[in-house]
Formats: sequence, structure tokens, C-alpha cells
Amino acid sequence: MTVSRALAQLSAEGLVVTRPGAGAFRARPRTPAAPDGDTSWQEVALSADGAADLVPRTVDASGVTVCLAAPPPGVLEFNGGYLHPSLQPERAMAAALARAGRRPGAWERPPLEGLPELREWFARGIGGGVTAAEVLVAAGGQTALATALRALAPPGAPVLVESPTYPGMLALARAAGLRPVPVPVDPDGVRPELLADAFRASGARVFVCQPLFQNPTGAVLAPDRRAEVLRIARAAGAFVIEDDFVRRLVHTDAGPLPRPLAADDADGVVVHVGSLTKATSPSFRVGALAARGPVLERLRAIQVVDTFFVSRPLQEAALELVGSPAWPRHLRALSAELTARRTAMTTGLRLRLPELALPHVPSGGYHLWLRLPDGTDEAALTAAALRAGVALTPGRPYFSAEPPAPHVRLSFAAVSGTADISEGLRRLRTACDEVL
Ligand SMILES: Cc1ncc(COP(=O)(O)O)c(C=O)c1O
Repeated sequence: MTVSRALAQLSAEGLVVTRPGAGAFRARPRTPAAPDGDTSWQEVALSADGAADLVPRTVDASGVTVCLAAPPPGVLEFNGGYLHPSLQPERAMAAALARAGRRPGAWERPPLEGLPELREWFARGIGGGVTAAEVLVAAGGQTALATALRALAPPGAPVLVESPTYPGMLALARAAGLRPVPVPVDPDGVRPELLADAFRASGARVFVCQPLFQNPTGAVLAPDRRAEVLRIARAAGAFVIEDDFVRRLVHTDAGPLPRPLAADDADGVVVHVGSLTKATSPSFRVGALAARGPVLERLRAIQVVDTFFVSRPLQEAALELVGSPAWPRHLRALSAELTARRTAMTTGLRLRLPELALPHVPSGGYHLWLRLPDGTDEAALTAAALRAGVALTPGRPYFSAEPPAPHVRLSFAAVSGTADISEGLRRLRTACDEVL
């Protein structure tokens, strides 16, 4: 394996050529590297055409890369947004991909909306009578959110967002020229009276909501608020984009889960976004959009124009994976492991870092949202933590306007286990002693 990988890499780098049956040979010397060019002209070119841009757009990837970037060696990853490799169903994914590659037609074009069986699987997962015909397979949640935002709001339009919320969605909205308007969230999810006020004040036609295990607070939209949110949006003539990103990351003490909002919506208010990545791997980029009514055609058109379709082998692999006996086993094991990690982190925090307030302990998802003492400099704490060997996510990027208080988000899924959680908290203690 190692030798064939090394040969493949050398071949990709142009250093060897392989001739089947004959062996591997040193390649002829490469042509000399091109002389250094001068790219400074691009600084002018990328900014000077602002006059043509009637609506200001800001493309800033920092809110996303903070969760995607690999930490420096030796640094514990309390900032990761995905499962540590030891929690990923690596063998089941490899087997699914191998079987997928052998399926008849695996490398043909898929139907543009996605494989019918996969659309059916996503529709069943939403429930409430949503049908396969109302589902589009998307390349993960991020792409689905981008499609939904672009389909529902023209550049320059306001879009209501929870406060705090996922920075990657704020980045998408800003890149599309939209104006995020924050609506506060408490431990029961978004506050309906403020949502109604925000619709009135802004005239927005879109609200982006995470009703289940919200990122970053972990809040679940309370039963009495679910119908309220749909009613308020309907009265405003607005869509609700439901980002249902961690439905499969449930802890063992969660009790029965509320259905997706889309399952309770007969009027086509909800555009539902789901994804497989959080329960598998960031590279398993398969997700879904579901919607009812004419908006479905708008979503379909934008998705086809932007991305054509999702790679067919990956769609086939998704079907193989979720249909295998390994899938429910993986979800059960994941649930137990996430619960153990959450308990290790909450217990460790109470013991060693009592000055960090934890207003809500979530029963799903992979992170905790901590309020720092008033006046704490988040950036200084994050920098001190990194020096001590643990990477955190500062709270500021989760707020689309002025934050009410300093916060940090700690993820317990991206480290290797409870020993690393304990060590990470010890390092965080060192950082807090320096900064607080
Ligand atoms: C709330 C939320 N929605 C969507 C996503 C996008 O995830 P993916 O594109 O991997 O499905 C993320 C990733 O961190 C997230 O936190």
C-alpha cells in the first residue's frame, strides 16, 4: 500500500513514469520553473471595479476556515466542526465507496435533482408527508444554504438570522450581498416576539433558523415556539430556511426528537436543509434541500446553474452507507461517545473553570457555548489558549452585529477522546489564568 501510494505521488509530481508490466522509471528532468511574476496588479483589479457593484458584497472566508483549518502540530482542536477520524465510520464509508464504484452506471450522469432512492431517503427522514419529488440532493449543507439564500433573497435584501448563529452562513449571506439582521436566541430557540418585530422593522422575506441543537448555543426550538415561528413567517410572506445540520448527532439523554419544521409545514414556508457530513466526515459532501411549491423550481434552477449536480459515485456511496447494517450501529456508537465527551467537558469545566458560565447543556451536537466574564478580551484569550496548546473558537464571528457579551465555543468532537478533553481544559485553565 505504502509503496504504491508513494509511486502514485511521485508520478503525480512528474518525478516518475509508470509503465504497466515494465515498472517505474525516473522521469526526464522537468522544465525549469517559470520565473517569478508580479501579481501586485491584482490588488488594484480586485477592488477598483467597486463602482459596478451596486450592492456591496464581502467575501470573507475566516468564519468558515476557523472550523476547517487543521491546527498546528500538538495543538488540541476544541475548535473543530467535524468528527475526529476515530469517530467517523471510516470502514463503512470505504466499503460503501467501493461498492458504489461497482454499481451499474456509477460514473454516468445522475438525474440533475439527485438519485431517486437518495431523494426518497432524505424525504423519509424529514417525514410529515414530504415526498422524494420535493427533495434535491445537494453537495452538503453549505452549498444547500448558498442555493437557498440566493434563491430567496435578491442582492441588497435583508435576511433575518438567529443571534448568535453559524458564521459560515453569515459569510454566505454577505457574499451574496444580503444584509443579516440579528434576532436573539435563548435556551428555547429564537424569541418569537422579536422575530415578529424584526420582520416588521426590516421587511425581510427570509429567516434562517436552526431549530435543533443550534450552532453555537445548542438550543432546541421549544414546542410552543415552533408553530409561532411558522405563523409569524407566513404572516410576513416570508420563507424560513431550516438548517437541520446535526439531527443525527443526538446524545443518549435527549429523549424523543422534535420533527423537522418542514414536517409541520403544509404551506411551503420552510426550505429545509439537511446534510450527512456532520455524522460522517467533512468529505462526505452529500446533503439535501427540500421545499414545497414553486420555490422548488427556483432552487433547482440555481443549483443546476451553479453546480450541475452532485458527483454520482458519492450519491451512490451515500445510498450504500445509509442502507448498510453498519449505519445504525455507527449512529448508536456515536451517540454514546458524544454523550461521554460532553459529560467529560461539562464536568471538567465546572471543576476547573467555574468562571466560564455554561447557560445551557445541549443534548445533541458537538459543542458548548460559554459566556466569558464581562470585559474579557476574546481575542487575547484565544491567542493565549493557542500558546498553551488548545484552539478555541471566539464568539465574535457568531454575531452579525454588536455582541451582547464575550463568548467562546468549545467543540468536543474533533479531539481524539476524553483524555484530550481533560488536557485541553488544563491548557485552557493556563490561558484563563493569564488573561482573565
Ligand atoms: C449550522 C451549520 N450549518 C451548515 C454547516 C455546513 O456543513 P456541511 O456543508 O459540511 O454540511 C455547518 C458546518 O459547520 C454548520 O455548523
